[in-house]
Amino acid sequence: MSETQRLFLAITPPTSVRQTLVALQQPLRHVRWTPLDQLHLTLRFLGEVSNNTRDALTDRLANVEVKRFPLPLEGVGVFPLKGPPRVLWVGIGSGHPRLHQLRQHIDDIVVSISPTTDVHTFHPHVTVARCAEIANAAAAAWARSHREFAGPVFLVDAVHLYASELLPSGPRYRLLKSFPLTPTV
Ligand code: 2AM
Repeated sequence: MSETQRLFLAITPPTSVRQTLVALQQPLRHVRWTPLDQLHLTLRFLGEVSNNTRDALTDRLANVEVKRFPLPLEGVGVFPLKGPPRVLWVGIGSGHPRLHQLRQHIDDIVVSISPTTDVHTFHPHVTVARCAEIANAAAAAWARSHREFAGPVFLVDAVHLYASELLPSGPRYRLLKSFPLTPTV
């Protein structure tokens, strides 16, 4: 049987931008904040992928021709919208068609290799914390106090393939490969 890995494709903001996300962290009971080196914006969660499929995917991604583009991180929120909060996130505001074009490009590649992929709606975000049993009120207070958050604009210059390892202490993301975007000049 061929081996599988739990994979996803993501954008990783530079360290200086991720530091502004770490600055949003505050002591809250039952909240596990994402460490700086694990912060990312998922473009496509791939789930369990065989090594053969992974190799087909990396071959196609190596030839991707999408131009670099600037992206600001903006606003905060909580998932799900109803019921107990599970995720605290930072968003990207509205618009940013280049991000959606990149996601579409990636989905076209993924679907050409795995036609049954579930291409569901894209809610771009960076998960800054996962919660268990946190009170709605505490999550709402966090979101309210940071609703004006606007991080520095950064250049999206690569897509990264990560393996997600589920450990008792929480998920750990390991960088497998990076695919540079095309310089604009
Ligand atoms: P999240 O940040 O909103 O949890 C690795 O698990 C990455 O893939 C995470 O950033 C996670 O998003 C994202 N992801 C998207 N769909 C997922 C799913 N069905 N299961 C696990 N992770 C998923």
